[in-house]
Amino acid sequence: MFNWDNKNVIKSLLLIGLFGFSQAGLTKDTGYYGYGKSATQEEIAAWDIDVRPDGKGLPVGSGSVSYGEELYEAKCALCHGAFGEGEGRWPKLAGGFDTLTDAKPEKTVGSYWPYASTLWDYIHRAMPFTAPQSLSVDETYALTAYVLYLNDIIDDEDFVLSKDNFTEIEMPNKDGFFVDPRPDVKNPACMENCKDPATIKVTSAIKGITPLQHIAKEEGANDKASSDSEDQQPKSADQVAVDNELKVGSAIYSQSCSICHGSGIAGAPKFGDKMAWAPRIKQGVEQLNKHAIEGYSGKTGIMPAKGGNPSLTDAEVSAAILYMIENSQ
Ligand code: HEC
Ligand code: HEC
Repeated sequence: MFNWDNKNVIKSLLLIGLFGFSQAGLTKDTGYYGYGKSATQEEIAAWDIDVRPDGKGLPVGSGSVSYGEELYEAKCALCHGAFGEGEGRWPKLAGGFDTLTDAKPEKTVGSYWPYASTLWDYIHRAMPFTAPQSLSVDETYALTAYVLYLNDIIDDEDFVLSKDNFTEIEMPNKDGFFVDPRPDVKNPACMENCKDPATIKVTSAIKGITPLQHIAKEEGANDKASSDSEDQQPKSADQVAVDNELKVGSAIYSQSCSICHGSGIAGAPKFGDKMAWAPRIKQGVEQLNKHAIEGYSGKTGIMPAKGGNPSLTDAEVSAAILYMIENSQ
């Protein structure tokens, strides 16, 4: 599966090179692992093109709104529309102000982006779509100025954007992004006075949405249908019983277990995660059944009795376990 394009090969070589370079500092020996070479300053510079909100990374240069307009019409309007309105389904670059709280917000450079540096970086790095990194530094300043002009963030046609005045640009939505002030929530395992797993009830399960009673009954009818088809081997009674249990298990799983095991929240081994399930399966089905039916507090979290749904029969819980392990090994 080594279907790498040249860029990736160069990138990996460069990464190996950088690795060698950082090792060199420690060992004073570039050939420490016997491969790679130190990246040259030019090679590093070619990759180190990011521009940060405080202007760090901006190269020396400048470009006017009017030069930007010329370039934009030649290289960008085709897709992004003459006024940044977006041709067809190509992205809009302008407008959408005051729509962020609407059901369908229009997120554009003007209405949404918090920093002008992202615009410079994006255009320089990725546009025009068909010829990324073909724009010069001055062209990028001019195009950035023009896209800001289309968004009424710059209103003077004669404005010249440069490294020196770049950080004076203020984006309308700059305060729309902030560091989440809520404290980090650690989730240490409970070690004492813990809740008894047998008494925990999960009230947010999607109970009752999927009726289950019909499944076992319908099974008879389905069997008839499948044994009618000629190219199928008749199933053994054992196989039919297993299939039936898996069907019931699948329904129980969706209703009462997937809420935790589907995504692996609260320390639950995730459905389909072979690594997480292997050591558990090793314990044997009996132990798994006991743990799931009675509930237990383990190393990664609390498994409530019957997944917190006491209305399940033991057989239904076992069926769900069978379904989970069948799909996780
Ligand atoms: C062939 C069509 C095409 C052309 C020509 C083109 N772009 Fe784009 N542009 C795109 C597409 C497609 C995206 C979205 C890419 C993505 O999301 O991965 C995009 C995204 C952008 C974005 C980010 C928009 C956002 O809100 O995420 C900017 C800014 C941008 N282009 C500027 C330019 C500029 C400036 C030019 C001219 C130098 C240009 N584009 C030329 C197709 C084009
Ligand atoms: C509220 C979240 C939650 C729900 C709902 C839930 N589980 Fe669990 N389950 C867990 C957690 C957490 C563990 C891992 C506990 C540990 O080993 O630390 C676990 C472990 C298990 C194990 C492995 C037991 C072992 O010994 O390794 C089985 C089997 C299991 N659950 C079955 C089920 C079944 C069947 C259902 C649905 C009827 C269900 N679970 C619903 C949280 C949940």
